[in-house]
Amino acid sequence: MTALLELRDICVEVDNKEILHNINLAIPDGEVHALLGPNGSGKTSLMMTVMGFSEYKVTKGQIVFNGQDINELDITERAQMGIGVGQQRPPTISGVKLGQILDFAVSVDPRRNSKADELIDLAEMKAFIRRDVNDGLSGGEIKRSELLQLLITQPRFAMLDEPDSGVDIDAMEVVGSMVNMLFTKDMKHPAKRRAGLLITHTGQILDYVRADKAHIMIEGHLVGSGNPDLILETIIQSGYKACVRCLRERSISQ
Ligand SMILES: Nc1ncnc2c1ncn2[C@@H]1O[C@H](COP(=O)(O)OP(=O)(O)OP(=O)(O)O)[C@@H](O)[C@H]1O
Ligand SMILES: [Mg+2]
Repeated sequence: MTALLELRDICVEVDNKEILHNINLAIPDGEVHALLGPNGSGKTSLMMTVMGFSEYKVTKGQIVFNGQDINELDITERAQMGIGVGQQRPPTISGVKLGQILDFAVSVDPRRNSKADELIDLAEMKAFIRRDVNDGLSGGEIKRSELLQLLITQPRFAMLDEPDSGVDIDAMEVVGSMVNMLFTKDMKHPAKRRAGLLITHTGQILDYVRADKAHIMIEGHLVGSGNPDLILETIIQSGYKACVRCLRERSISQ
């Protein structure tokens, strides 16, 4: 199967320091992959690199999206190709209201208007529409705001950075439904999915959203991939190092 997103042996530097080393990753269209790893292992950096944030410099290798080498494309061009992100710690944007961003998204494609009100209700974000983006929002509210913006723009390939962090159990139901909706191509046929990458520490989001495959990142290296449930179970019981040992012995890989 051809991959929608493919990272071919990429190395990435920030501030002249290499933080991602020889990463190879392929995500086929219609598959959602999970990315797990301890603090500081490089998960966010990988997502920001694929989106094209300029401080993440690809010094080696290729990023290929939908068959096209996108290394030289900027963030806007990548977004126009259908790549979207829900950031771990999105910035506050003073002077720009959430409603203005949503209105702009609808003005770019008026077909988005039909669903906007329904999505705002689902996200329970009506009270925040007239506030500056993320200004004074709680951790859980910020996650819902990010997901709402993604649901209205419907990227072909969404990457979500820890949508489950800082979210309480009740709000997880809402976040889980929103993430599932984001990865569902056609609500009448839930089996038809959009591709995406779900970054998670705790794996909590995987109780709500099915991942087809999981990858483990440690110290800037992708060290193994396999069945998400088995990988998560091993990490929870025995930690990342034991999980990597199991993967090397192939006892939990797919
Ligand atoms: N813009 C930056 N400037 C300097 N260092 C950076 C920058 N972005 C990432 N790093 C460094 O790269 C390493 C990987 O960070 P990254 O945020 O990608 O990890 P992470 O796996 O997402 O961690 P967490 O689980 O805590 O979110 C860290 O050592 C971090 O300090
Ligand atoms: Mg991170």
